[in-house]
Amino acid sequence: MLKNRSLIDPSDFTREEFREIFDLGHQIVANPEKYSKSCEGKILATLFYEPSTRTRLSFETAMLRLGGQVIGFSEAASSSTAKGESIADTLRTVECYADIAAMRHPKEGAPRLASHYIHMPLINAGDGGHQHPTQTLTDILTIERLRGNVENKTYGFCGDLKFGRTVHSLIKFLSNYEGVRFILISPEELRVPEYIREEVIKKKGIPFEEVDQMEPYMGQLDFLYMTRVQRERFFNEEDYIRLKDRFILDKEKMSYARPDTYILHPLPRVNEISTEVDDDPRAQYFQQAKNGMYVRMALILKLLGIY
Ligand code: NCD
Repeated sequence: MLKNRSLIDPSDFTREEFREIFDLGHQIVANPEKYSKSCEGKILATLFYEPSTRTRLSFETAMLRLGGQVIGFSEAASSSTAKGESIADTLRTVECYADIAAMRHPKEGAPRLASHYIHMPLINAGDGGHQHPTQTLTDILTIERLRGNVENKTYGFCGDLKFGRTVHSLIKFLSNYEGVRFILISPEELRVPEYIREEVIKKKGIPFEEVDQMEPYMGQLDFLYMTRVQRERFFNEEDYIRLKDRFILDKEKMSYARPDTYILHPLPRVNEISTEVDDDPRAQYFQQAKNGMYVRMALILKLLGIY
């Protein structure tokens, strides 16, 4: 039962529970009209203490397309946080007004802590450099739509694997499936955090390689997950400038990829994918953003116990 549960980390739900969400997500993609009144009378609160375009707007659009309504704030400065209110008090208050909430916060663990103070479902919409489970839902729905299932595939992750929370959540999710393999492409300084390497990848016995070049590995990949270097998490600007353009996917590099290697990116993109790649049918990042809305519709319906 997913009713009244919170989604803070990919390990909060079982494989079977995620399956329910994806199955509903695929049904919504096929017939969105059917669900257009499902959330009438329900309110979603979006509590965003950090910038966002897709995540916040896709959550809000998801609720509106389900016939529900939305309240919230898009920066901490416009909430009572600016007056010194604690997260616990803000959440207790929001619970008086809304039925479900999505929260993004710069501090790792903030949504988990917040979930302990309330009874309504809370969704982690990204906590610092830690996790971003609904981006993973987006990624998985996209992978299933393109290739049927997630099993028995080689996934390349490229860019900022250290601070990229979307990478951490997706690796955590995929590590529960058979036949997956990871090629982790990054500068040495931006490799995945130790807890992901040791407690997720190695513990689950997933074959992986950590490399610092793209071209030699392109031909092995089923999916290449590109990511932006996370400027806001760097301690100094010089390191950011030195590392930000290390990996740029362009037409020339795409020529090493197979015809069935799909390119994903959680977006926003900075320089890491040249715009000349956008017209390539293997570039799926804008479709991915659209899938994010559908899968969030499914998640809201499940956590509210409507489907
Ligand atoms: C990502 C995030 O916020 O972590 N964006 C998103 O939600 N699609 C990726 C990023 O900011 O680089």
